[in-house]
Amino acid sequence: MKTTGGSDEAKRRAGESAADLVTDGMVVGLGTGSTAAHAIRALGRKVDAGLDVRGVPTSFASRELAREVGVPLVTLDDVDAVDLAIDGADQVAGFDLVKGGGAAHAREKVVDAFADRFVVVADPSKVVETLSHPVPVEVLPDARSTVAAAVADAGGEPTLREADRKDGPVVTDNGNLVLDCDFGEVQDSAALSRTLSAVPGVVEHGLFVGLADEIHVGTEDSVRVETS
Ligand code: A5P
Repeated sequence: MKTTGGSDEAKRRAGESAADLVTDGMVVGLGTGSTAAHAIRALGRKVDAGLDVRGVPTSFASRELAREVGVPLVTLDDVDAVDLAIDGADQVAGFDLVKGGGAAHAREKVVDAFADRFVVVADPSKVVETLSHPVPVEVLPDARSTVAAAVADAGGEPTLREADRKDGPVVTDNGNLVLDCDFGEVQDSAALSRTLSAVPGVVEHGLFVGLADEIHVGTEDSVRVETS
């Protein structure tokens, strides 16, 4: 799993705080990343202690971790509802997010948007006034150049995400590529979200606007909870 800034202690507190919201019988969306991983591990411990819960993973990585710690898994096809989704973020401004640092944002958005309650877990390094993190855009491989041109037209600077330990680009769990698109400070995230969604070949982008219900920000000794 990739590592990001912020202390592991703060991430752990945030993840465990969100896992504490899970009650018997719930279907829970299992986010991706180092902070959501703490929530998954906490759920594993709760399952060991007798909690009845089913998880919907948002990536290969979250599925593997959930299996390792014993959280029973289902797919969206198996359930009528997701009671709660717990997921991390690369940047948080109010209740708007940039996600996709782990290239999992397409499935994350499906699960997080479908959930009755979407809880974001983060450390203080993620919280900003205005979103400015490059926006990950998952694209069909054949549409890489046309999407890049559309992003440039919209004022962004697209960069194809390169893999760390493989020659060539990152390939997502869905077999697509990722363009990290730097728009500088995003003053109108809803408008940019609409613009990116409308580009043919864009599978999904990492702006999560108006989806989050709660933000749990862990610190070294507590958790700050903001509710929309
Ligand atoms: C995965 O693609 C992302 O959306 C992650 O949820 C995000 O990058 C947060 O990850 P960390 O908790 O590791 O910072």
